Amino acid sequence: MKITRRGFLGSAVAAPIVAGGVVPAGSAAGATARRGTARDIIVAAGNGLAYLDRAFELLSRGGDTLDAAIEVVRGPEDDPEDDSVGLGGLPNEEGVVELDACCMHGPTRRAGSVGAVRNIKNVSKVAKAVIEHTGHVMLVGEGAERFAVAMGFPRENLLTERSRKIWMLWKESHSSNDWWGPGMSAPGWQPPRPVPAARQWDLHVERLYARALELGIEPQFGTSAVRRVLFPPTGTIHCSALNARGDMSGITTTSGLAFKLPGRCGDSPVIGAGCFTDQDVGSAGATGSGEENIKVAGAHTIVENMRHGMSPLEAGMDALKRIARTYNNDMARLKFVDMTYYVLRNDGAYAGVSLWEGYSPGEHHQIAVHDGTRARAEDTVTLFKGWSEEFPPTPSLPPEPAWPGA
Ligand code: GLY
Repeated sequence: MKITRRGFLGSAVAAPIVAGGVVPAGSAAGATARRGTARDIIVAAGNGLAYLDRAFELLSRGGDTLDAAIEVVRGPEDDPEDDSVGLGGLPNEEGVVELDACCMHGPTRRAGSVGAVRNIKNVSKVAKAVIEHTGHVMLVGEGAERFAVAMGFPRENLLTERSRKIWMLWKESHSSNDWWGPGMSAPGWQPPRPVPAARQWDLHVERLYARALELGIEPQFGTSAVRRVLFPPTGTIHCSALNARGDMSGITTTSGLAFKLPGRCGDSPVIGAGCFTDQDVGSAGATGSGEENIKVAGAHTIVENMRHGMSPLEAGMDALKRIARTYNNDMARLKFVDMTYYVLRNDGAYAGVSLWEGYSPGEHHQIAVHDGTRARAEDTVTLFKGWSEEFPPTPSLPPEPAWPGA
């Protein structure tokens, strides 16, 4: 059979027929009508608060919504003191920093993502470059790094001295069956002695703290370093932006789970899990236990929930309940899961929701918001009361002191 170019194109561009007529260009089947007028607003994870003013200024000057969102998340990416994102992020189990990011640009309905990228600080911008300079959506590992260098991003050492020392502390302490840590020729070495079970945990924490100081970790970060070794964090920042024209974009970037296996990608580079934007409806993003969020496609689930009429709060809570459902609501498991969603609807209504209140008493997960009045942080609404690490098998640690710039 002869297929002519004209004949082929003729069949390829036929408009989809639905009951009652042709779907008009630009409309999503089932899209929820906007409930109110769009407005300039940016929502982000709590660690984005310090960068909202400059991002909102860009947005209110008519800047693109994805550029405004990147203006927020590049803050922690550039900050060596934030050890959950970009420069200074806690490394993988081999001591190498690997970063993940993804973004969606609502006006053009495009998406970009990079996973397990080494030596490049601003992976949020690399994810955007994937949109603008490739026909792909996702690049990972060495290929993503080489792409970034080709795009003009500088290669740099992302491991700060503090993050390296925290990794050393983890490396020395997470196993007693290897040769890491001081050997028996070290001054002060003592042969292992039996310790009463009730004393074992306290002694372990005391030893970790003392070793942190020996490794050169500043005393004011000693407790924080021990917490990171005992409870490897997932960190991360998400940001979604909406403007008065109704344009929306979202972005998520992270150094991922501390001390992960090399090559591990969490939810942050997964479109639909760490971030999802459809400006017919809204935008959502996540921080927390990446593996759990991937299993419920959290950000996509939330946007689809809003498409079908749920409020941002209801939509986010439903996604959290799906995580609880993953474990049949077994609290013995769920107490080790941490998850926060940041939800923005296309009329500017928003919500921040968390599985638990925070990591320890006195602190609360927060959503950072700027809607033209001022940048502010608001406590998220939680599904469960309590803190994600207050339970056995590990007794609780003292609250974490504030880090500089936090
Ligand atoms: N949510 C970040 C991660 O799990 O890597």
